[in-house]
Amino acid sequence: MRTLVIDHPLVAHKLTTLRDETTDSATFRQLVGELVALLAYEATRELRVVPVEIATPVAPTTGVHIARPRPLVVPILRAGLGMLDGMTHLMPTAEVGFLGMVRDETSLVASTYADRIPHGLEGRQVFVLDPMLATGGTLVAAIDLLLARGASDVTAICLLAAPEGLQRLEEAYANRPVDVTVVTAAVDECLNDKGYIVPGLGDAGDRLYGVV
Ligand code: URA
Repeated sequence: MRTLVIDHPLVAHKLTTLRDETTDSATFRQLVGELVALLAYEATRELRVVPVEIATPVAPTTGVHIARPRPLVVPILRAGLGMLDGMTHLMPTAEVGFLGMVRDETSLVASTYADRIPHGLEGRQVFVLDPMLATGGTLVAAIDLLLARGASDVTAICLLAAPEGLQRLEEAYANRPVDVTVVTAAVDECLNDKGYIVPGLGDAGDRLYGVV
């Protein structure tokens, strides 16, 4: 398991505005898109490409195209949906699968309520969008489902991560023959007794959509 914390002034600036409780939903949504594009730029650094021969107006040359099978982007509903535009903007040829997961606010256990993930993910690079890596329960359940469908290379893009969640992923995947990477803008201090990231940014779904 690999964790990549993107240390960049633009990332830090946008994240600070997201954290600010006075930021309204419209601004929040726009900033999430911008932040995801910056994180995705790093998260796709090892995207597989194939050489292609093309001709510029001046001369023939060799370039690259994204390899097939196409990468799969999986936003975890509901809050991950707010990250989808930023990701597909950067990688318009990716396919998109949807996973609806909800965590019980008392037990903090995640359960699946919607599954539009294809089978046969062997050889495909998968990018999971989940803004808040808190206990890690939701992300581990999502990654386990993707591995069960044949994936072996999964990158999770999270706006924020808690040390507890990273630890849970480390325990889940350290000794398995799979590539799991978390790309995040920051690792915060801890979780509070309700499972919220501290200082965090609150409930990402509520901040994005303004409703519970
Ligand atoms: N989910 C959120 O939206 N926020 C947190 O802080 C933790 C989980």
